[in-house]
Amino acid sequence: MDAFEFNKFAMAGLAAVFVLMGLSIVTESLFHMEIPEKPGYMIAVAEGTGGHETAAVDTGPAYEPILTLLASADVDAGKKVAKKCAACHDFAVAGKTRVGPPLYGIVNRAMGSADGFGYSSAMKAASDGKSWDYETLNGFLWKPKKFMKGTAMGFAGLKKVADRANVIAYLRSLAETPAAFPAE
Ligand code: HEC
Repeated sequence: MDAFEFNKFAMAGLAAVFVLMGLSIVTESLFHMEIPEKPGYMIAVAEGTGGHETAAVDTGPAYEPILTLLASADVDAGKKVAKKCAACHDFAVAGKTRVGPPLYGIVNRAMGSADGFGYSSAMKAASDGKSWDYETLNGFLWKPKKFMKGTAMGFAGLKKVADRANVIAYLRSLAETPAAFPAE
């Protein structure tokens, strides 16, 4: 076997190795498909956005419920907490749109329904005929971005359950006829 012929064999051998390597990469990627950890996770896709934006509502009980606290909540303390919201929200009757929508009468108001406000597609997807009841407000105000992925509300949230109960009691008072307290 001369040197030339030997080279030919060597090249053929190398080529075979490359083909095998290529094959194993392909098969590996075929069998390495990601399997979602929580297949049951609820994801609502906003309509008409090309399917890119998704809104996942966190339904886990990661925040304390407030229903039992509401009846004894402190409206005045809630009004003070609400100063944090006033940079973006108008609380007055027929309030104006600021960075966020006006909030007069928000308890039991349909989600994402203030006239003329450009809600995020996350809010539009999450609303889906729902209203802001006490527990939904509780979750949203706890951690807006965690509760409603993709919301445009740039607010970290109210960690203290007492702050949330008080501010929600204040929001409830902003109505001609305040919503009923939840039944025990
Ligand atoms: C930095 C500005 C900002 C602050 C501060 C803020 N918000 Fe908001 N809020 C927004 C924006 C923007 C939206 C609209 C969110 C969307 O479309 O995803 C919103 C939406 C809401 C909604 C839903 C309204 C609707 O019409 O469905 C509620 C309720 C709300 N905010 C309550 C509060 C409360 C209570 C506070 C204070 C504890 C607060 N927000 C603080 C900007 C803010």
